[in-house]
Amino acid sequence: MSALLSVGAVTVLFDGVTAISNVSFDVNQGELLGLIGPNGAGKTTMLRVITGVVRQTSGTVLLDGKSLDGLPTHLRIRRGLALSQQIVTPFRDMSVIDNVAFAAGAAKTASPLKAMFHLRRERELDAGQRLLARLGITAHAAESPKIQPMGILKRLELARALALAPQLLLLDEPLAGLNSKEARLLADTIVEINRGGTTIILIEHNLGEVLRVCHRLVVLDNGEKIAEGEPAAVMNNATVRAAYLGSGAAASTPATTATAGDQHAAA
Ligand SMILES: Nc1ncnc2c1ncn2[C@@H]1O[C@H](COP(=O)(O)OP(=O)(O)O)[C@@H](O)[C@H]1O
Ligand SMILES: [Mg+2]
Repeated sequence: MSALLSVGAVTVLFDGVTAISNVSFDVNQGELLGLIGPNGAGKTTMLRVITGVVRQTSGTVLLDGKSLDGLPTHLRIRRGLALSQQIVTPFRDMSVIDNVAFAAGAAKTASPLKAMFHLRRERELDAGQRLLARLGITAHAAESPKIQPMGILKRLELARALALAPQLLLLDEPLAGLNSKEARLLADTIVEINRGGTTIILIEHNLGEVLRVCHRLVVLDNGEKIAEGEPAAVMNNATVRAAYLGSGAAASTPATTATAGDQHAAA
């Protein structure tokens, strides 16, 4: 396998405080990589470095062997990145389908204004409808995002990211706020998206689902990479277990029982 994304010795300082310290890892073409670690580990900051929202203090990020350093976010999207954020952000005054069609249009034009004029074009609505079907939310197409429960909004957020037709999809805690059945179903959908050819970095606190679906894990703690490798082995790594216990997680066996809920309850 070849590396689609290569993160090399990335360090991020915020006002002199180290958020990420000399972290390197690769994401292989076709992989579903889990990026995990306790709260404050630097996971979201790492995604922001990859998308160009945060500039690293030092280090380099390569996509398909080409440097992304210095590129603004919209040009990184053009190169094949898409991000689904932990806090869902649909356009509240557009219907569910228009939100996705708008994103599909923006992907082609790289200009939100142009995408507006093209909004009604059949191609974009078709693409939007296909994505809603893929995410299982067709029944809500004509409705407002304002009335949707979190489970539907999470799927809408994912449909909007997929409308950009990314090579590499970055997911920041897509399962947060879902009950265990919804989480399992959405994790299955993420696996289907990956099998469809999209490489994925999944940040997630639901370690049961992470262990079930991820091909490989990278673990951050306090801004440092503390482990990397095959999921079951990583979860059994003493340093990883200590990091989760140190963060206040109640579980003595993080591989099977620690979830976001457990951590927050114990913190
Ligand atoms: N914009 C920012 N300004 C200052 N500090 C930040 C900023 N974003 C994150 N941090 C700090 O960087 C560290 C890593 O945060 P974050 O990447 O959000 O961790 P995680 O997503 O793993 O919970 C934390 O100590 C956090 O307080
Ligand atoms: Mg985070």
